[in-house]
Amino acid sequence: MQAALADLPITKIETYTEIGSTNDRAQALLEQGAPDGTLVVSEAQTQGRGRLGRHWVTTPGAALAFSLALRPDPAERSRLAFFAPLAGLAVCQALVNDYGLKAQVKWPNDVLLDRRKACGVLVEAAWVGSQLHGVVLGVGVNVASSSVPPDREVMFPATCVESALGRAVDRVDLLVNILRQLFELRSILGTGPFLQLWQERLAFRGEEVHVDLLGPGQSVSGKVVGIDRHGNLLLRTQAGKEESVAAGDVHLRPLESKG
Ligand code: BTN
Repeated sequence: MQAALADLPITKIETYTEIGSTNDRAQALLEQGAPDGTLVVSEAQTQGRGRLGRHWVTTPGAALAFSLALRPDPAERSRLAFFAPLAGLAVCQALVNDYGLKAQVKWPNDVLLDRRKACGVLVEAAWVGSQLHGVVLGVGVNVASSSVPPDREVMFPATCVESALGRAVDRVDLLVNILRQLFELRSILGTGPFLQLWQERLAFRGEEVHVDLLGPGQSVSGKVVGIDRHGNLLLRTQAGKEESVAAGDVHLRPLESKG
């Protein structure tokens, strides 16, 4: 793996057959002073974490689970909200450009294939008091079919890369392709071209969706219009009003889905 990553700005790599959570390990490494570009990859996770405090299962030999620790520069620090879409968009771009798949981003950062989730992203910032230590981009990709959770166990129906592609996929190649896209996109983080690409890949454009917001019982429905310059989702409600939804802990689904 080291050789395959040689032309990328990866400064340190840890690989595991099993670990609690690659995100936890990457956070610990940041605390110990690990440099920007520190990568933690594991075949399996016993305490894999998803968004909204959910558990994330990583099936050995069938999935990709990694965390990339970054130390944002001052310009990036003012664009922290774009790190989660950065990871999702990188996976999406790799699947489109390197595998010819019609991958899309379910705002803000899940990656869909055939309208089913193939990848989840959990980005965590490491703070010491008010000082930002770094950010950890945690990425879980369902590669082979045995990594796909049954519909009854998930909020949104899932799929995997191999089902969409109809052939086996080398997971190290996939990792390298994702990281290459990620470092390219990092150089335009939060800029106009970044937003344009994110918008081009946006799932459910023109469709009616339902978004559950953080507050209890709070939700909004409307047609997906696009993304604004802050990365907020723009919806047109039935009353014809434009609503913007800030990324955070939200759950988006198309109206016909049970998810
Ligand atoms: C989600 O869709 O809820 C996000 C899932 C993120 C899972 C990845 S797997 C690698 C990294 N380590 C973790 O514990 N979680 C992320």
